[in-house]
Amino acid sequence: MRLDKFLTGCGVCSRKDAARLASRGALTVNGVAVKRADAAVSPETDTVCVNGEPVCYEPFVYVMLNKPAGYISATEDGNFPVVTSLLPEQLQRRGLFPAGRLDKDTLGFMLLTDDGALAHLLLSPKRHVEKAYAFSLSLPLKAGAEARFLSGIPLKEGVTKSARLTLSADRLSGEIVLTEGRYHQIKRMMQHEGSEVIYLERLSFGGLTLDPTLARGEWRRLTEEEINTLRQAAKQGKTEETQ
Ligand code: URA
Repeated sequence: MRLDKFLTGCGVCSRKDAARLASRGALTVNGVAVKRADAAVSPETDTVCVNGEPVCYEPFVYVMLNKPAGYISATEDGNFPVVTSLLPEQLQRRGLFPAGRLDKDTLGFMLLTDDGALAHLLLSPKRHVEKAYAFSLSLPLKAGAEARFLSGIPLKEGVTKSARLTLSADRLSGEIVLTEGRYHQIKRMMQHEGSEVIYLERLSFGGLTLDPTLARGEWRRLTEEEINTLRQAAKQGKTEETQ
């Protein structure tokens, strides 16, 4: 990998700054000054230092974000702010992207990562990774909704997979657990039942629950344990897929 790409990926500096640092002699690879930012490095085995400070190589970064309303689940958009803009520049430079989409007005748990392989597994419709949401509705759901959600709601592109629905006593709010992620899925399921979603928040994803200490718009890195939980969730799906 090129040294400047490595430094950018680690969130140390931009490519331009890497070239400046190299020309100043501020970059060393295994103790030897490297004058060219396009020099080759092996991230796993080489020790890269900037001004004598070793750069810590992280193959992937995993972030939990509490998505506020008004943000698009994307890395760029012509009209609205995107979720990645809530991350510091250093992480944006790494190219983190949202694993899955929430609607612009949906709140809550969003995973951002640059681990494309794990994101792909977690989002694969074949893998049945669970996502739980809290919702409020304009009109109460009719009797028997829980059973209908379990059997599947017919949407125009086909019947949804079994979804677990728990309703409040007035049937105007509750929680739902999905194992797929179709476009506007919960909104369309509720519409089919004659109601409308007026509040939607994702509470959990792949066995991880939104950290209650994160205010809207705040983020934190996942712990090693949490990353393992995600890997397990993706693996679990694989078992089901191969059965
Ligand atoms: N279902 C929806 O309708 N919207 C979301 O953002 C997520 C699930």
